[in-house]
Amino acid sequence: MANEPIPAAPERKKRILSCIQPSGIPTLGNYLGALKNWKKLADEFDGAFAVADLHAITVRQDPATFRKQINQVLALLLAIGLDPEQSIVFIQSHVPAHAQLAWVLNCYTQFGEMSRMTQFKDKSAAHADNVNVGLFAYPVLMAADILLYQADLVPVGADQKQHLEIARDIANRFNTVYSPTFTVPEPYIGKQGARVMSLQNPAKKMSKSDPNPKSYVSVFDEPAVIAKKIKSAVTDCEGAVYYGDGKDGINNLMGIYSCCTGLSYDQIAHDFAGKGYGEFKAAVADAVVEELRPVKERFDRIINDKSYLEDVAARGAARASRIANRTLQKAMKKIGFVLPK
Ligand code: TRP
Repeated sequence: MANEPIPAAPERKKRILSCIQPSGIPTLGNYLGALKNWKKLADEFDGAFAVADLHAITVRQDPATFRKQINQVLALLLAIGLDPEQSIVFIQSHVPAHAQLAWVLNCYTQFGEMSRMTQFKDKSAAHADNVNVGLFAYPVLMAADILLYQADLVPVGADQKQHLEIARDIANRFNTVYSPTFTVPEPYIGKQGARVMSLQNPAKKMSKSDPNPKSYVSVFDEPAVIAKKIKSAVTDCEGAVYYGDGKDGINNLMGIYSCCTGLSYDQIAHDFAGKGYGEFKAAVADAVVEELRPVKERFDRIINDKSYLEDVAARGAARASRIANRTLQKAMKKIGFVLPK
């Protein structure tokens, strides 16, 4: 009999996981820098995407606003095109295993390591009246989010790199003390989304917590508001559109424009040669409006369909729980806990 080649086992897709906090309306920066890519990641990998509501209470939230924003961010995940049949889309607090594993991992994390987290230092300075233990232990909860799903990849921006590093350290430590339990996650460095800077101070990252609303575009801003904010963006006095040193404002607008249109910086500089900033800003505003329009349209439809949102959340939580509980039990068993029957 001829030697039949043994068919290769179909390769398991790598799991990718990311979460977004419902601590405000996401900005154009969150969208271009991260969310816009999530749909592509969901197609390429086995995706899990969550609304990180537990993380958000490390700073005080107004209950009514918080509740509204959790629903809005869930709706936004669907509006950017994530398919809840394809990916696991869920609300973190609906899966109790996150809080449970976070407690366990707290006991495998050193006080010293947490004290070195730059985000903790920044946030405790910014909220000096409420430096709570949750803020301190925040990276451990994030490690639990990641490790529960045995995620291979985590797309992270620069500000979350240190937290992913800690998640890796915790996983390795646990795996060494016991035996391999958690997949050690790698950062996903894909096509870089734009790092969008503040429109008013282009040396600073665009942030939804900036006290000056002119410094950021929210993904739900109306077209006229978007145009107004972009027109008042800080630039320089040279009046020439090209990417260069000392042109942080224009560089930022070029980054935004390039991300929305797919045009290269050279092409943009060429297209706007001899034209002023007014014309360029109008084009940037139009491109941003067009970029956000379909997202906003889908969002408006979904946010008014309460029962659909509830169904998505329930199904997501059920799928997520199955994986998360398996990992939690595995870890607890190794520690020596008596598991409930
Ligand atoms: N800390 C992340 C942020 O503020 C959000 C987050 C929570 C997260 N858990 C995560 C990101 C797990 C990636 C993986 O942006």
